[in-house]
Amino acid sequence: MSTPLSAKKIKNNLNSLRIGSEILVFDAVDSTNDLAKQYLEKDAAEGLVLIAESQTSGRGRMGRSWVSLPGVGLYLSVILKPQIQPRRVPQLTLLAGLATTLAINEFTRKKARLKWPNDILLNGKKLCGILCETHSTQNGKAGVIVGIGINVNHTITDFPDDLKSSATSLMIETGNPVDRLALVRALIGHLDQQYDAYLGNGEQTVIEKWLENSDMVGKKITVTQGKSATRGTALGLDSHGRLLMRSEKGEELAFDSGEVTLHSSAPA
Ligand code: BTN
Repeated sequence: MSTPLSAKKIKNNLNSLRIGSEILVFDAVDSTNDLAKQYLEKDAAEGLVLIAESQTSGRGRMGRSWVSLPGVGLYLSVILKPQIQPRRVPQLTLLAGLATTLAINEFTRKKARLKWPNDILLNGKKLCGILCETHSTQNGKAGVIVGIGINVNHTITDFPDDLKSSATSLMIETGNPVDRLALVRALIGHLDQQYDAYLGNGEQTVIEKWLENSDMVGKKITVTQGKSATRGTALGLDSHGRLLMRSEKGEELAFDSGEVTLHSSAPA
């Protein structure tokens, strides 16, 4: 078991404007995103970071669960209260993915890459997922919860059989355990920088940097939305952060949600 995370050590000389205004570390919770909703109900301040050593009901997108074993991962949620229109909220998933990739890449020579909308891959396998949720409180206030799960020091046996071929951890890929304290400090720093730039200058820089840290463009992909699956070639992101695709029928499409499958060669 690795050294438990300590809020005091994470905060020590942390030079951030908003993210990490308060940091709380818990031993075991159901889900840090659900805990964040409770804190929003109590009018928690923007920048509150809730971290758990383990989660009993860690959640991913599409109702999936998130493997949250004690001591080996980073499982955290950040409360944001941006004054933005609801249609811009998905951009915060891109922002969080970018910041998390920049933090992870301080610890690995082979670069982690972003997969739209919320995944970070290393050597083509999933290393991290982001779950952004909006919560409206009973007294009519709203906040955005940015949930981030990173597989840090998992071994392959830590993943259930159905994930063994698609999931990975920083330790599996680099061969060395990674210091979770250093990683979470880097993550808070990058989140703070990207969020400050976003509030000041808008989404354009986030989108540009997101694309620089992804290799989706030019790849054959399938986008699944419910029962509909569309195949084509990824073209990039538009100025709102939507995924652009040239479909096999030659149409240019923009997706604001969906599940992407990357194909190593052209889909049959
Ligand atoms: C996904 O890949 O579908 C998103 C996974 C998000 C997991 C993180 S772990 C911390 C936070 N709490 C949760 O219950 N989920 C997110």
